[in-house]
Amino acid sequence: MAGERNGTRKLGDWKNVDVEIENGIAWVTLNRPAKRNAMSPGLNDDMVQVLDAIELAEDAGVMVLTGAGDSFTAGMDLREYFRAADGLTYEQQLHVRRSAWQWQWRMLQMYTKPTIAMVNGWCFGGGFTPLVSCDLAIAADEAIFGLSEINWGIIPGGNVTRAVVQTMNHRDSMYYIMTGRTFDGKKAADMGLVNESVPRAKLREHTRELALELLGKNPTVLRACKQAVRSVQGMSWETADDYLFAKSHQARFLDPEKGREQGMKQFLDEKSFRPGLAGYKRDA
Ligand code: COA
Repeated sequence: MAGERNGTRKLGDWKNVDVEIENGIAWVTLNRPAKRNAMSPGLNDDMVQVLDAIELAEDAGVMVLTGAGDSFTAGMDLREYFRAADGLTYEQQLHVRRSAWQWQWRMLQMYTKPTIAMVNGWCFGGGFTPLVSCDLAIAADEAIFGLSEINWGIIPGGNVTRAVVQTMNHRDSMYYIMTGRTFDGKKAADMGLVNESVPRAKLREHTRELALELLGKNPTVLRACKQAVRSVQGMSWETADDYLFAKSHQARFLDPEKGREQGMKQFLDEKSFRPGLAGYKRDA
């Protein structure tokens, strides 16, 4: 039902991905646990459809990406994505590649809803691209990460290297890409690859709290905020300033709840809240 945020329902019926919408949160679970949720062409095709469907689901306000069993994802599927593609023509290989990049960074990075990667376990290679392309990330302390490409004889392609240098500093990027050594969730948080790490037993609840906090924000303004963070990265200060001025006008124009006016009224006139410490009352 449109806009309804209470209750739980299963969305769609995909072979490699499970989607449940629970009180406004779309829990997306990569679902090939026997293969450690390795990303096959079939899984990538499913994820393109899943992201499309969640974008249009009015009862989903936040998307959480995680994995079934003890893995987030073991990265690209060596058998189905790499070896099988060796037998294809170049054009066919481009086709197989397309659904991978389509969801792993193109769709995720400018997604219309807030996204959280919930790294529950193994996260290798190609898994770094969707991880970094989600807006926020929370890991289990026990999760194991690795840029394992060097260990099996390739460079981190699939935009993994781009994703890594976007989030990790130069020394750490070089170190983990060159050695292929693993690190845990706590180290990922120390390096800024994820926002925080918590014991695995608390991971889902902790992620749910963050998702609910995001659901409490003005969705029009939140979307503009996250898209602006992505967009200004490639701009000069002059261009960014002009873009942000225009973007804030766009958000004001599109915002059905007139958050800016509500915020000023409740703070300046009614003195009912302090913006430094909390959000304005949205249903006032
Ligand atoms: N591609 C294809 N298959 C994979 C896979 C991948 N990336 N990761 C795991 N699998 C498969 C294994 O081949 C095995 O399949 P099988 O049961 O048919 O033999 C199954 O998943 C379980 O893997 P296994 O290695 O036995 O599990 P584990 O729990 O002992 O170890 C990992 C888990 C993730 C450490 C290990 O599977 C691994 O190193 N995977 C590759 C990680 C990687 O380098 N990814 C980067 C890709 S760019």
